[in-house]
Amino acid sequence: MKMSYIIEKKRDGKDLSRDEIEFLVRGIAVGTIPDYQISAWAMAVYFQGMSPGETRDLALAMAYSGEVIELSAVEGVKVDKHSTGGVGDKTTLVVIPLVAAAGVPVAKMSGRGLGHTGGTIDKFESITGFKVEMAHPAFLQQVSQIKAAVVSQSGNLVPADKRLYAIRDVTATIDSLPLIASSIMSKKIASGAEGIVLDVKVGSGAFMKSYEKAAQLARIMIDIGRGAGRKVVALLSNMDQPLGNAVGNALEVKEAIDTLKGQGPPDLEELSLELAAQMIFLGEKASSINEARELARSALKSGLGLVSWKQMVEAQGGKLNYSLPHYGLPEAAIKEKITAGQRAYVEHLNALEVGQAAMLLGAGREQVRDIIDHAVGIELFKKPGDLVEAGDTLALIHANDPGRLETARRQLLRAYRFSEQAPEKSPLIIQLIS
Ligand code: URA
Repeated sequence: MKMSYIIEKKRDGKDLSRDEIEFLVRGIAVGTIPDYQISAWAMAVYFQGMSPGETRDLALAMAYSGEVIELSAVEGVKVDKHSTGGVGDKTTLVVIPLVAAAGVPVAKMSGRGLGHTGGTIDKFESITGFKVEMAHPAFLQQVSQIKAAVVSQSGNLVPADKRLYAIRDVTATIDSLPLIASSIMSKKIASGAEGIVLDVKVGSGAFMKSYEKAAQLARIMIDIGRGAGRKVVALLSNMDQPLGNAVGNALEVKEAIDTLKGQGPPDLEELSLELAAQMIFLGEKASSINEARELARSALKSGLGLVSWKQMVEAQGGKLNYSLPHYGLPEAAIKEKITAGQRAYVEHLNALEVGQAAMLLGAGREQVRDIIDHAVGIELFKKPGDLVEAGDTLALIHANDPGRLETARRQLLRAYRFSEQAPEKSPLIIQLIS
């Protein structure tokens, strides 16, 4: 088979056969196809798209291009979740313990953050001593014993995606729905869970800026998952404003613990409960989604979710002190308030601008090899719909460097828009696609 023919066929808008896709993916994974041919093919896909069958074949070929995680030694229906990425999105930290407390095993592989969105592994790494690398038998044993473990994605998982993503990143071919869907789902399929709940974010701080594109992405991912024999549902959720009030790694861990104590912000609690309920339902611990919602709520209200969180943190070597106000998480040296200039409603708080301000403080990475500062970030005291008086604190910036603080402060101010009238509230959970 010749790669030039595969490129030509896609350039001319024809469908590739399964054999051609498998040849291509093998060549990407083992390095026999050069970058320039992969780039040309990705650009052809960008313009011509892929049929549902081609997209499923691509995702499956990529999923099996490297190590595939075997979870059959763990009893029960194993479930996973994936968020397409947002600002302040710490739902995974709340959801894993809630689902585990309901008796559904979660063997979670997560990634580090890049750009204005945070990564789950970075958040866990702000806990002193927390180990995100574990040998596979120990990982399985922990999930069997306490129903929850979170580790960083194995280096051998989906090598074809690793190379293809790096090429797409520098050839303006990230923004292609079949390529995004197969990239995400190949990693979920290789991670071994039988049930997958997708949180597809929509809005200024999300990858998908419009409802239509987000819904299309969700449907393609569901189709891929089902083609691979997995149970998949997707929630479309609003990412026009940050989720919760904390943005930045240690601050987000603190907010997740507060939420598990029943003292979290309402939006974070609402989305976490719904994601947990969908996972509990896929995990077959409830006979209806309403019963699953009850189980999620009772795991939160009874404190059993918090117990699961403590067990998981302890099992992975994490050291927290729950009697301290910040639970022993790292704290930044400088805290600076941003205050309101006049009485007005907060009309909009742009998630992308807030995420970029947090990144400027050092909470996120511009480049893969950047080192992040777990202590820095932003606490938001006023969100859209809130009425503020002159002098009220809008936000508190946590910084470790005065220069970074100043640039982040200017960036954060750009995120706010005020109005004399109360703005209309937009729903947090836009749609369930199942
Ligand atoms: N996230 C992924 O994992 N892959 C993409 O292509 C885009 C976002």
